[in-house]
Amino acid sequence: MGVIPKRSEICRECVDWELVEKVANRERVMNGAAQIVIERVGHVYRSPRGRSVMALENVSLDVRDREFVALLGPSGCGKSTLLYLVGGFLPVEQGAIRVDGKPIAGPGPDRGIVFQHFALFPWKTVLQNVLYGLEKQGIAREERTRRAQLFIDLVGLTGFEDSYPAQLSGGMKQRAAIARTLAIDPQILLMDEPFGALDAQTRLLMQAELLNIWQRSRKTVVFVTHDVQEAVFLAERIAVMSSRPGHIKEIVETRFDKADPGLTRSAPFIDMVDHVWNLVRAEAVLAARGRAEA
Ligand SMILES: Nc1ncnc2c1ncn2[C@@H]1O[C@H](COP(=O)(O)OP(=O)(O)OP(=O)(O)O)[C@@H](O)[C@H]1O
Ligand SMILES: [Mg+2]
Repeated sequence: MGVIPKRSEICRECVDWELVEKVANRERVMNGAAQIVIERVGHVYRSPRGRSVMALENVSLDVRDREFVALLGPSGCGKSTLLYLVGGFLPVEQGAIRVDGKPIAGPGPDRGIVFQHFALFPWKTVLQNVLYGLEKQGIAREERTRRAQLFIDLVGLTGFEDSYPAQLSGGMKQRAAIARTLAIDPQILLMDEPFGALDAQTRLLMQAELLNIWQRSRKTVVFVTHDVQEAVFLAERIAVMSSRPGHIKEIVETRFDKADPGLTRSAPFIDMVDHVWNLVRAEAVLAARGRAEA
């Protein structure tokens, strides 16, 4: 058997994508198990004054290796909380989360997260922000800069390398944060409404770019969005969450031919958007009722 290149060793411009895909498929056959296993997870936030909020309750979800899963649910149902738990930014206190069979013990380079609120270092420029994760990976300086520039170009921030976050629009900050996460080439991408601050046109471009990256490098993606059409377009499965405390209400399979240029206008696609939208709307109504009664 040949040597399987580590993802971190893959240099994008000299990539033999056919080989990468072959290796990826072989690995997939070899390890058919789920990559992320979320088992009966709950999470309670406790404030210093003793008020507690149960954000998640009994959440179970398996995400297969190289699968693209979208998380949809009403505001406040715990989507970000679930992503923080998988990312290792919050401790798992109820239930269990395993990645590649191992319990999570904090953040790691195998999981890249795009936070809902960008989380760029305000004192670093765009280039320095993107370089930050690469510096931690021990990659040679020239290769680091080359790779950082590649992803800055990819998200359309060429010319803004030396700008500080305060000098960027919301959408530009969001794109810088996406570039920073993609540049470290994690096996698992955790994305929390990554396109929420983008204008409609840039959003479409970024969706296409993300699909392209996912199809070529076969990452596992967990993608939080409020946009039902975006979820149906991007994901292979959609996990619809209940109102708070969030749990998985229903999982919908959404396997469409993404290469079909007429996909978003086709009847099966429109029906699927409608079906998922009805599920989400029902939970949003329950969430609003809960807020009114609180
Ligand atoms: N740091 C925190 N301290 C206390 N409560 C919190 C904290 N973060 C979130 N919560 C509460 O936990 C619940 C879930 O929050 P979370 O941010 O995970 O929801 P969400 O589904 O991501 O919402 P949105 O779609 O609006 O981003 C909410 O009721 C929120 O008020
Ligand atoms: Mg959120």
